[in-house]
Amino acid sequence: MKISNLLPRSALALLAILAVPLCAETFAPRATGTAATLGDGLAFFLPADLPPARVPHSFALLEPARPGGALPAGWRVTPQFSFSENRTRATIAIETGTSLYGTGEVTGPLQRNGRTVTLWNTDNFRYEKNAGLRLYQSHPWVLAVRADGSAFGVLADTTWGTELSLNGSIEFSSDGPSFPILVIDRDSPQAVLGELARLTGHMPLPPLWALGYQQCRWSYQPAARVREIADSFRARQIPCDVLWMDIDYMDGFRVFTFSPKEFPDPRGLNAYLHEHGFKSVWMIDPGVKADPADATYTSGTAADVWVHGAFDAPYAGDVWPGECRFPDFTRPETRAWWAGLYKNFMAAGVDGVWNDMNEPAVFNVPGGTMPPHNWHRGGGDIAPGTHARYHNVYGMLMACASREGIMAANPGKRPFVLTRANFLGGQRYAATWTGDNMSTWEHFRMAIPMTLNLGLSGQPFNGPDLGGFTGTAEPELWGNWVAVGAFFPFCRAHAEKSTPPKEPWAFGPEVEAVARTALQRRYRLLPYYYTLFEESSRTGQPVMRPVFFADPKDPALRAEDRVFLVGDDLLVVPKWAAQPALPHGNWRTVSLVGENSTKDKYHPDLRIREGAIVPLGRVIQSTAETSLDPLTLLVSLDGQGRAAGRLYEDAGDGYGYQKGDFLLTTYRAVREGRTVTVTVDHTEGFRPRPSRPVVVQLVTDSGTIEATGRDGQPVTLTLTP
Ligand code: GLC
Repeated sequence: MKISNLLPRSALALLAILAVPLCAETFAPRATGTAATLGDGLAFFLPADLPPARVPHSFALLEPARPGGALPAGWRVTPQFSFSENRTRATIAIETGTSLYGTGEVTGPLQRNGRTVTLWNTDNFRYEKNAGLRLYQSHPWVLAVRADGSAFGVLADTTWGTELSLNGSIEFSSDGPSFPILVIDRDSPQAVLGELARLTGHMPLPPLWALGYQQCRWSYQPAARVREIADSFRARQIPCDVLWMDIDYMDGFRVFTFSPKEFPDPRGLNAYLHEHGFKSVWMIDPGVKADPADATYTSGTAADVWVHGAFDAPYAGDVWPGECRFPDFTRPETRAWWAGLYKNFMAAGVDGVWNDMNEPAVFNVPGGTMPPHNWHRGGGDIAPGTHARYHNVYGMLMACASREGIMAANPGKRPFVLTRANFLGGQRYAATWTGDNMSTWEHFRMAIPMTLNLGLSGQPFNGPDLGGFTGTAEPELWGNWVAVGAFFPFCRAHAEKSTPPKEPWAFGPEVEAVARTALQRRYRLLPYYYTLFEESSRTGQPVMRPVFFADPKDPALRAEDRVFLVGDDLLVVPKWAAQPALPHGNWRTVSLVGENSTKDKYHPDLRIREGAIVPLGRVIQSTAETSLDPLTLLVSLDGQGRAAGRLYEDAGDGYGYQKGDFLLTTYRAVREGRTVTVTVDHTEGFRPRPSRPVVVQLVTDSGTIEATGRDGQPVTLTLTP
């Protein structure tokens, strides 16, 4: 008998108000029905009330899980299932010394032990709702690193609202019915992430331009202002690849329209941007204005694409344009209709698309989203169901449909979609940013663990609004933010409508110079970033990595979340990271554009791993220019006098690389006596090696030694005695 059954309702209500522990939900154990292997180091568990044949469609996994034979002897990670009147739960015990990570887009520190988050996609301006414990995306996923450096990952395959609690164990407590648990057990966190990507999909290789610096504001308007911003970047010689069009380019916030007054000629604007080496990304929200004169609304209504509310009629909710309808992206027909809308839109010369407000956000209603009982009709693998069931995948399905549409409109180009809401596995469709942060030091510092944990949740292509979205950015903060943010995978500055200007030159000459140097550092590193993105698109490894990746056995590195790695070979140490925990070894400070980061007040110290070769390009103003002329190889020898590193190159866009039109070169450096020789060790791909000069910069403890040669030929340097 439960205590709650013994108490009158009024007493229960009082206890609820006082929130005394007596009222805590009572869970009863539920037997495990299936405990099976899915392959080496991979296990699948179902509670007894969920037979394998009734497991619903998985939105996270690429393929339905097919349970194989019994678990191998000595299998270590096993969930306990339980249930209450309202919730279903899976609990996984952890050994002492286990560090927990992942859990998607989360505020707070990198290490998640002791933390609880709610997985319920939420439009969370300033991260204020629920103290930031639920944000725009849901990743029912935990990466656990044991004391010995081995690791396991736990995936709860449910789309329902879920509380993920890491207080002494890993506990998923869901609003929905019973759900499967997948466990990946490997000898390193890197191997767990590799398997997560194999199961949930890899980030497709983005176009090269998407790795450049991007400037956004809500909104640059009219079109002439966008041109002015473009001109300023070029006149001031601050590298930039992308300008962003926020909602005000639309005609009364109607999606797939352009304001006749302020953006009468989007094709002309895009052509201008292209001529000046920029790409453009334009916003598309899910809410379609309920306007009988609007073509998107009338075609959507005719095709019956909307999410339904009570009484089986299309649900109406307010967003920017006023009353809107919302596409039911669970329906294949709706996704095809939505994809089709991009044909004309992209024909205006649009390069990329920004899907926002797709939690979906609804104004002036409890919860800030549509009612949980709204009805999605599904189709194909997706069963009909309530919004409560599909809320967390609404944004992911929208991004999927957008991507399809963009690819169909521009079949020869790689698509770029940025989405605010997403779900575990959503890296397959879109990059992401961390929503409406603030121009504060707290949010700046937190952006590092946020970006890292998204990477540890399968989403490598992400970053915050650099400089902070809302509020006035003090020059010193903005300068520091761009100096560190230049190293984030997604590198875009943004600003809320009412805020003072936040372009690199808006904060005075000192910060403008900081931004120029910061972005020049990024642009010199773009060949390295592109090599990492390509690697990530095959291996699932994050681009920006926590320092514990350098040595998962070292407990001292587990909680470090101010310093971070870019790939395995570069360490970024922000100025304000007092007494950081750094990985062992001789990480030598490098200067890329003449900066002296050890003395500078803004620029983080950039250090290269001993044994690494990092490829660099020239400083360019955008990726429309050739950068590897010359190619620079930054070499740092290890104790044995050796180093190696890779450079990936392709056309930067399109799909030729999938047919071998790429060049992946492994360079190697060897010291013999006082001579260091750098050679091409081996290559992959059929793309011919461009004829180009190469500059080798050998970083030593007493300075840098330089030699030049031709790429592909050995280059020799002589060490001074
Ligand atoms: C949302 C987005 C923000 C955008 C604004 C206007 O708040 O998160 O980035 O600028 O809407 O479209």
